[in-house]
Formats: sequence, C-alpha cells, structure tokens
Amino acid sequence: MAEPFIQISKLVKTFDTPAGPLNVLRGIDLEIHKGDFVALLGPSGSGKTTFLNMLTGVDTPTSGEIIVGGMPITQVPQRRLTKWRARNVGIVFQFFQLLPTLSVVENVMAPMDFAGKWKSKERRDVALKLLDRFSIRDQAEKTPDMLSGGQQQRVAIARALANNPPLIVGDEPTGNLDRMSATNVFDLFQQFANSGTTVIIVTHDRELVQGVPKIFNMVDGTIEQTTLAAAAARRTQELRALRTRSAIRGTAQ
Ligand SMILES: Nc1ncnc2c1ncn2[C@@H]1O[C@H](COP(=O)(O)OP(=O)(O)OP(=O)(O)O)[C@@H](O)[C@H]1O
Ligand SMILES: [Mg+2]
Repeated sequence: MAEPFIQISKLVKTFDTPAGPLNVLRGIDLEIHKGDFVALLGPSGSGKTTFLNMLTGVDTPTSGEIIVGGMPITQVPQRRLTKWRARNVGIVFQFFQLLPTLSVVENVMAPMDFAGKWKSKERRDVALKLLDRFSIRDQAEKTPDMLSGGQQQRVAIARALANNPPLIVGDEPTGNLDRMSATNVFDLFQQFANSGTTVIIVTHDRELVQGVPKIFNMVDGTIEQTTLAAAAARRTQELRALRTRSAIRGTAQ
C-alpha cells in the first residue's frame, strides 16, 4: 500500500491552565491515506478541535510528530507553515467565517492572494467556476449576509478549495445547517474524496456519519478507529455513567 498521506506519531498536547496541566491529546498514533474520507467523533471537550489545530499547524503540539503530504509540520518554523497551509489545507468551520464586507466571489478569491498558486488574472475565473460547481454562481456579487446558511457554507467550501488543496478539514461544518443542506455538504465532501482529496470532518451528526467510510472516535485523549454501532454503544455508556453520577450527586445533597 502507498505511504500514508498523514502520519501521526506519539502526538501529545498539554495545556497549562490555572488549575494545572490539562492533558488533552495523550499520545495519538494514526495514519490516514490519500483520498480517505474520515469522520472524527467524540464528546464535547474531548480534544477534536485541538487535534485539527495540530494537524493543520495552527497550534503546536507539546510533543510528537505529524507529517502531512511529506511535510514534517512539527519541525518547520511557523512562517513557512503559514504558506504551506494556504496551499495545502482547506478549512471549513461551523460558523462559515466569511468576510462580511467582501462579495461572495471575493471571499473565494481571498486565499488565492497568499498562496500564489494562480496568476492574478486567472483568480476570478477559478473562483467563479467553483461557485458554478456548487450552484451559487448567481450569488457571486452579493455579500454573504444576503445568502442562506446552506449557500454561505457552500461559499466557505469553495473558499477552502480555492487553491485546490490535497487536504480538507471541517470542524462541525454542518452544525448550523438544515438536514438537506447538511446532506448536500457531505455529498460534496464525498466527491472530493473520490477524486483523491483527503477529507477529515469533525461532527456530532450520527445520521450523516452513516455514509462516511472511516469513523474515528476520540476517547481519553487517543483516537481509535470504530464502527458506527460501537460508537453509539460507547455514547450510551457515557450518558448512562453521566446520569448515574448526577443521580448520586442528587442523593448526596
Ligand atoms: N488554548 C487552550 N488553553 C487551555 N485549555 C484549552 C485550550 N484549548 C482547548 N482547551 C481545553 O482542551 C479541551 C479540549 O478542547 P477542544 O476544543 O479540543 O474540544 P472539542 O472536542 O473540540 O469539543 P467541542 O465538541 O465542544 O467543540 C477542553 O477541555 C478545552 O477546555
Ligand atoms: Mg470543537
């Protein structure tokens, strides 16, 4: 089998907090291949966003190694990493994070300036083609506030794809969408994966996850591959434990 696109070894992240060190990632070993479509599940506060921040070089680990597409991102200086990220990673957020004063097409073009992947005169055309692909070309000259949530998220995905990156990550990208828009967005992610882009999506949406080929679960600071049934059983267990703990606390009062 080909070399993994992402190789993570012994990844540790500890935050210093007023209450003392908080060990969020406790030694993650993981491999993800080119064209994989991965969903990352896990309870709130388990470290999913922290993990994505490490993977995209937005934050630095306490220790461990991460290699993405041959780039040892844990070893290169932040300045080089910023340029690398612009060319290699598309990030989609829950709250879209579009720039409100720019038009839709300008939002999609924004990451192109920095990455230098397209010539200046090509950029608008590339952006319009992406909008066309997501059926929102007719919205190009509007500002984002004039669009529906589903349309705004499609703009954000077009922006994430502006430099044709080999990796797309999403942090609950459908958290603010209705069912239909959310399903459409997941279909788009599946299409990217089919064409060789590696896609990693953090989500709480168990219905959408049913169509995702690989499911990872964040548990006690580590990540394990799981099945939907196993993830559901664990969730039931966690909720039961939570209820028992609250009941005990209730009786103690
Ligand atoms: N910069 C920071 N400094 C201190 N603690 C942090 C920092 N960032 C995150 N944490 C803590 O690390 C833990 C994991 O946070 P993280 O945001 O990664 O969780 P999450 O799995 O993304 O949760 P959610 O599903 O609610 O988004 C939490 O306890 C959080 O409070
Ligand atoms: Mg999070």
